[in-house]
Amino acid sequence: MGIIETTLKNEKTGNFINLKTPIIGASGTYGYNCEFEDFVDLNYLGAISTKGITLEKRPGNSGNRIFEAQCGMINRIGLENVGINAFIKDKLPILKEKNIDFLLNIAGSTLEDYVKLAHIANENDIKAIEVNVSCPNVKQGCLEFGLNPSSLFELTSNIRKAYEGFLIVKLSPNTSDIKALARAAEAGGADCISAINTLRGLGVKIDFINNKFTKNTVQGGLSGQCIKPVALYMIKEIKSTVKIPVIAMGGITKLNDLFEFIAVGADAFQIGTANFIKPSICSDLAIELEDFMKQNNFKDFNELKGAIRNEQ
Ligand SMILES: Cc1cc2nc3c(=O)[nH]c(=O)nc-3n(C[C@H](O)[C@H](O)[C@H](O)COP(=O)(O)O)c2cc1C
Repeated sequence: MGIIETTLKNEKTGNFINLKTPIIGASGTYGYNCEFEDFVDLNYLGAISTKGITLEKRPGNSGNRIFEAQCGMINRIGLENVGINAFIKDKLPILKEKNIDFLLNIAGSTLEDYVKLAHIANENDIKAIEVNVSCPNVKQGCLEFGLNPSSLFELTSNIRKAYEGFLIVKLSPNTSDIKALARAAEAGGADCISAINTLRGLGVKIDFINNKFTKNTVQGGLSGQCIKPVALYMIKEIKSTVKIPVIAMGGITKLNDLFEFIAVGADAFQIGTANFIKPSICSDLAIELEDFMKQNNFKDFNELKGAIRNEQ
């Protein structure tokens, strides 16, 4: 067992997953399976969260889908994905063959969509699913469940009935009461919460060419370093109100970011936008974390968490 190995466990039900490192490639930035294998040391990747998968294949949004913002990016990909059948047929065998641990990230327009996806995950013995109720870039569904505690409770309870594995609910920061949403997910049977998804944002680019102004805009989800303070606040709020583990994300790029998220309650991490800048970052940070712990005589990840939170 490596010293940065960690277990995420719902103490109430006993449901758990083991991660060989606490660092996970975030959904939508890490492909479906082994797209990053040329850059990343797979031995140091805790897991990947797959691109959000819907029941049917989706082409995503047309037009400009990406905007480079200051210290971040705005995307309006619109959940382009191959659909669950193609995922099971073409992508899952590669994950299995290469022994890559993963979270199946799912999204839907209706409660029935989510329940069908959960059934399929269950039938295929998928160990962990991450339910995206927080995508701001699609016209129908998804975020609608993620902003209303009673809808989220109903959705989570129905998924729970359909799926026996480790159930992660991914929350949106686009709310004024993240605590109520976290409690609804936990009460509905979630084993873990992940947060945050992107923040609603608008990129505007004005040029002045040949005596004329031109304007380009991209409205979508803001991610990257600029959202880290929001993510830290949200993780602190979530952790203050639920007992289940929390996977933190939002602007992580360096070792000290991991420490900051641990200080406010994170049990594991996902890295998204930073992969586009440095594709090796997930394993780089895991190796850096391991080196730090060895040099400073931390025997395991729990001990490090306790020391940062001044619990030991
Ligand atoms: C291009 C892009 C696509 C994304 N697609 C998804 C997705 O399909 N499902 C999902 O749950 N989150 C998706 N996200 C959100 C990320 O997983 C993550 O929650 C967010 O970007 C914050 O982390 P970061 O600041 O490290 O990027 C996407 C983010 C980006 C930048």
